[in-house]
Amino acid sequence: MRFPYVDSEMIPSAVPSEVLERAVSAATEVRRHAYAPYSKFLVGAAVVDADGGIHVGCNVENASYGLTNCAERAAVAAATAVGRRDIVLCVVVTDTPTAASPCGACRQVLSECNPTMDVLCTTLEHADVWHRLDALLPHAFGPDSL
Ligand code: THU
Repeated sequence: MRFPYVDSEMIPSAVPSEVLERAVSAATEVRRHAYAPYSKFLVGAAVVDADGGIHVGCNVENASYGLTNCAERAAVAAATAVGRRDIVLCVVVTDTPTAASPCGACRQVLSECNPTMDVLCTTLEHADVWHRLDALLPHAFGPDSL
């Protein structure tokens, strides 16, 4: 089990541990395909749907820097492309001393799928930090705001 939540006392239970391990492996693997020649900051993400399906993404940079796409948003796009928006967990993997949290844009895009999904930010050395998305993005703008 990967503990603890930093933003709540909840125990991660939505995803069985074998699915969790596969999601972390998938995010770690896809990170190797990140295209980040400018920042050299490689990010891998995996989002898990309610049936345990795993959908991956990595960051893709561009010489026109502002066109960069983050790993988490790439993973959401991959899930969407196979008809899955029912995301229960997002895993983010970086090669940093402590885990990096999703950027604000990614929080917003993840929130559109499920504002209360679990988010596991981790590193190649398994420095896990758990969040719930609504703690990372409180008072989110969503479909009900329109
Ligand atoms: N990046 C992500 O992939 N996800 C985030 O949540 C934050 C940042 C990428 C974008 C860019 O390619 C690199 O990390 C440095 O910002």
